[in-house]
Amino acid sequence: MMPSHRQNWFEGWRLFAVLTLVLVALSAGVAGMRGFEVDGVRMVIRFTARTSLLFFCLAFSAAALAKLWPNAWTRWQRRNRRYLGVTFAASHGIHAAAIACFALMDPVGYAAATNAASYIFGGIGYAFIIAMAATSFDRTAAAIGPRAFRILHLTGGYYLLFQFTVSFGKRIPDMPPYAMFLIPLLAVFALRMIAMTSARTPRTVRAS
Ligand code: HEM
Repeated sequence: MMPSHRQNWFEGWRLFAVLTLVLVALSAGVAGMRGFEVDGVRMVIRFTARTSLLFFCLAFSAAALAKLWPNAWTRWQRRNRRYLGVTFAASHGIHAAAIACFALMDPVGYAAATNAASYIFGGIGYAFIIAMAATSFDRTAAAIGPRAFRILHLTGGYYLLFQFTVSFGKRIPDMPPYAMFLIPLLAVFALRMIAMTSARTPRTVRAS
């Protein structure tokens, strides 16, 4: 008998549950390494910024990769892009919880690490994440309709791509290795552009 995708721990909502549990456990472990003090909380903020980058890139590149290189992995990625996207939202939920702990535990350090721009741009980012996660269920997606869904998820996706680029990019002058975080972001953007172009100019097959 063929195994059903729904019974598989690496597919669908089960995949989301497994990944989220792993993220929560790892975040607790990271904070615990510094005795759950403010340093540990700041490490969780940085850790979840990076796990969010991973799941965001997996979700936002899925359709383009499956189109350009259809194979078992890219088909899995495209089939599960919704769950990878919601895992990104969960990862950013932990980012938000750690930010709140940072603000409570060390208000002075928190004020020094943030500014009006982080609230405005970060706030818009969270508004998109919440709206995108809320419309990632069959019922809510159907309620807003395919056109609104597409506009929301496309605009939100590109906004978040921009936000990641700025958040990692602004740290490059102080920490040059941060440039490596821009590589997956640029790759996702390039893949999407290439996939879009290849849709407009489909290869013609000659009969001769
Ligand atoms: C109001 C919303 C947000 C606030 C107040 C906020 C706050 C912070 C703070 C305080 C840090 C630095 C932690 C430290 O150095 O100890 C940080 C890091 C970061 N945040 Fe957020 N954040 C917000 C939303 C977002 C969003 C929406 C994204 C991306 C989509 C994001 C991506 C990042 C990244 C990439 C880093 C750098 C992590 C690193 O150093 O490796 N943040 N955030």
